[in-house]
Amino acid sequence: MDLIPAPLGSVRLPDRDFPLDRATTLTAPPALAGAERWLRSVLTAATGLPLNPGRPGEGIELVHDEALAGEAYRLSVRPGRAVITAGGPAGALWGAQTLRRLLGPDAYRRAPLRDGGWVLPGADIEDAPRFGWRGALLDVARHFLPKADVLRFVDQLSAHKLNVLHLHLTDDQGWRVEIKRYPRLTERASWRERSMVGYRAGQRRDDRPHGGFYTQDDLREIVAYAAERAVTVVPEIDLPGHTQAAVAAYPELGNTDVVDTAALGVWTDWGVSHHVLNPSEATLRFFEGVLEEVLEVFPSEFIHLGGDECPKEQWKESPAAQARIRELGLANEDELQSHLIRHFDRWLADRGRRLIGWDEILEGWPAVAAPPAGGAAVPAAERPGAGWRSRAAVSSWRGFGGGIAAARAGHDVVMCPEQHVYLDHRQADGPDEPIPVGFVRTLEDVYRFEPVPAELDAAAARRVIGTQANLWSEFTDSARDIDYRAFPRLAAFAEVAWSALPADPAARDFAGFERRMVSHLEVLDALGVEYRPAGGPHPWQRWPGVAGRPIDGPPPAV
Ligand code: ACM
Repeated sequence: MDLIPAPLGSVRLPDRDFPLDRATTLTAPPALAGAERWLRSVLTAATGLPLNPGRPGEGIELVHDEALAGEAYRLSVRPGRAVITAGGPAGALWGAQTLRRLLGPDAYRRAPLRDGGWVLPGADIEDAPRFGWRGALLDVARHFLPKADVLRFVDQLSAHKLNVLHLHLTDDQGWRVEIKRYPRLTERASWRERSMVGYRAGQRRDDRPHGGFYTQDDLREIVAYAAERAVTVVPEIDLPGHTQAAVAAYPELGNTDVVDTAALGVWTDWGVSHHVLNPSEATLRFFEGVLEEVLEVFPSEFIHLGGDECPKEQWKESPAAQARIRELGLANEDELQSHLIRHFDRWLADRGRRLIGWDEILEGWPAVAAPPAGGAAVPAAERPGAGWRSRAAVSSWRGFGGGIAAARAGHDVVMCPEQHVYLDHRQADGPDEPIPVGFVRTLEDVYRFEPVPAELDAAAARRVIGTQANLWSEFTDSARDIDYRAFPRLAAFAEVAWSALPADPAARDFAGFERRMVSHLEVLDALGVEYRPAGGPHPWQRWPGVAGRPIDGPPPAV
């Protein structure tokens, strides 16, 4: 049946197939109506069959079984009958995705190629995910991605049973989310005058403005569309670094005592800008205002506040920042960054949400001897006695080390080490890869990525709540480019995140995965995904003459 990601267990039952026809019904209880609606919409489009609602006990039926975990499902197909038994709405959607896959690649088209001939193979499938957080990051800040392409990417995630879309909405090069009380964030910060083409050493530029933003209604639409497909959208508002675009729109957010921020534009280079936020109370209030609107749009438990790559030069030079360090009784600039992050950690917790940030957020985070039970290491003043304990989570991107330290200190961790699952990195060594950056990470490398480091003990390993592949967009300015870098590797990543693969990467059956990929590529073709062919890019997928920054040799172990 070639399922990707592989289910926990499956048995093919020859001679027990279920041919669908115009009389076949599709039924679900109210609790699973979302999955029913989704399945009917995709299957009526692809097959032309009406799949009218029927009676319980007939045709294709979704059944709720609270004894199963929320994302778990069982699927059984017999002549005249297909039952998806699910622990909850998400499990029902994953079961529905599997049922669509059993109908073959043409079930992924938006109009029927033929009249009839739709057969569900007789089977028993039992399935549940390994990790609760199975994510992908889209960087819509470096290059804006139109809303329709974001919705299309959500379809791709859901087809692979990935359930978190991390939207990197703000950066030095652009601000992409409408904030009604601060209109200049979109009037001014959502576009730049030109862009670099390729790596910065190449010094090649286009001479064309680039920009775009999502209105709050656009984002509500994306959130609701994703929710119908069992995908949660986690927004990222990056601070206190990666903020040049915001400072260009509101110069008072910058370190005005050391730079003339009024003269600043939205950055037209790639890299890490030194124009970071000033650490004043007014800046905290400004971003509380931003986040109040973000919380209204995004219902996700987690809100990502970045916290990565904040150069400290301006704070070292700024008398105001230094005065702030003294006033707060902090040791240095790292602790100042930590102070800002912990402010929002608590601010989000007070509103029933949880902060997640890149692994730098633990720098300057005052250590305590042992984390309180069930919580993360927090400074003494904020210990449970003070009525508060941090539940911040960490996205471990600079390798496994940050995630290991975070898990041991009691933080939840999403493993996304750049050496392994940054899908902007090149997929092969060779001159034809478009703008080749980073390590070579082949389909097989991604398949053999293990998110839980062997050195974690059982309690710390349970802190690894999931894994995520990240698609940074300096070198991808369209959905076509994203397709190329994401696929087919995101299919391998989906199996790592969902399936019960051997923990030992060497013990994984990559040959078996490759065999299943043959028909999975037909699924991607039917979906219209322009993946990288195994033999190398099509001529139109190359980008001759544009400089990249390949890193030679295998990635370091941690
Ligand atoms: C990152 O790649 N700076 C999170």
